Amino acid sequence: MAESRKLRMGLVGGGPGAFIGPVHRIAAELDGRIELVAGAFSSSPEKSRAAGLSYRIDPQRAYGSYEEMIAQEKQRPDAIDFVVIATPNSTHLPVAKAALEAGIPVMSDKPATATYDQVLELEKVVARAGLPYGLTHTYAGYALVRDARALCAAGEIGPVRKVVVEYLQGWLSESIEASGQKQASWRVDPKLNGPGGCIGDIGTHAFHLLEYITGLDVIALQGTLRSVVEGRQVDDDCTALLKLSNGAQGILLASQIAAGEGNGLRIRVYGEKGSLHWQQENPNTLTLRRTAGPDETRHASGGYLSPDARAVTRLPGGHPEGYFEAFAVLYREFAEWLEAWRANKAEAPATLPGIRAAVRGMRFIERAIESSRTGQWVEF
Ligand SMILES: NC(=O)c1ccc[n+]([C@@H]2O[C@H](COP(=O)([O-])OP(=O)(O)OC[C@H]3O[C@@H](n4cnc5c(N)ncnc54)[C@H](O)[C@@H]3O)[C@@H](O)[C@H]2O)c1
Repeated sequence: MAESRKLRMGLVGGGPGAFIGPVHRIAAELDGRIELVAGAFSSSPEKSRAAGLSYRIDPQRAYGSYEEMIAQEKQRPDAIDFVVIATPNSTHLPVAKAALEAGIPVMSDKPATATYDQVLELEKVVARAGLPYGLTHTYAGYALVRDARALCAAGEIGPVRKVVVEYLQGWLSESIEASGQKQASWRVDPKLNGPGGCIGDIGTHAFHLLEYITGLDVIALQGTLRSVVEGRQVDDDCTALLKLSNGAQGILLASQIAAGEGNGLRIRVYGEKGSLHWQQENPNTLTLRRTAGPDETRHASGGYLSPDARAVTRLPGGHPEGYFEAFAVLYREFAEWLEAWRANKAEAPATLPGIRAAVRGMRFIERAIESSRTGQWVEF
């Protein structure tokens, strides 16, 4: 029988001034199936308590550290059902490991870990624990990304020949880390972020989107990573040529020094019969262009969309859905999985990014760095 109570979430990260932690909270709660009840919101116990007050949770459950949260929650009859990880990358593995080894499922933000070695360890921990693990590649939650994926799978554009994916941001065009900007400071520090800067932060999103929509694997790449802003220790501008498992080729651009850009994630997939065009700054339309015949603009919530896309739209046509809703789609799928897993050990839904995407994303970073260092093509 389906559970009637809300699932209880414990959030790690999302302290005062944080970006993505509060987004996780809003998205997780959007469908009324999940409730934030506990957290270790900051590495500073004082700030964690202050965040607990702002989230209006029981002050007793705003913990000083994630270790304390896990230990204390395990004692409670109303313990958290899963842990969300929304901290800088270097903490992802220790938090995930602590939660999974304590028997608590995990929903983690990307990149899955700071290094490739760490994700291999995480993969083993997830397998050993046998618990749900989800990865919030947000863009996989957009209805028209689901539609593009379904159209590719149905052969609507024919076999894929070429993919162009770009993720261009401009917010790191200057050394804002020098003035202590919170989000920039840890992202340019290899100890907190990992060795891949822009390639890890947004290149992994572009990489995931390409594989998610096309259903193809990247099998080789040649990458060039640069640090354009003086003194920066990680890359901030990346270009990669890709070979895909069906013989198609791709190009991936990721940059955080693309001055003037906001969150310019855009993908074009070219098949033998036509192409698909989607961009996240205008996410409610997908264009399908055919070599023979007129262009088709597909709107989110259109009754003609694929069932996978219709399943994740909430509003009638013309009412824009965006970032929060896409994020919430991943949470709804995670909640459904968690309940089904409890009932009958159900497998992960194919639409929700998980440990496979985690490993591939980290491998992508590692391979791109290696290729940039040697100047050679590298196998994936
Ligand atoms: N899915 C997405 O589209 C998306 C978007 C932005 C960020 N992210 C990812 O989310 C993570 C956080 O990014 P952000 O931009 O929110 O960073 P942020 O700096 O804004 O927030 C990080 C938060 O984690 C807290 N923190 C640090 N160490 C901690 C610890 N040991 N215990 C508890 N809390 C701790 C900080 O105090 C802060 O509140 C990163 O891994 C990033 O790559 C994903």
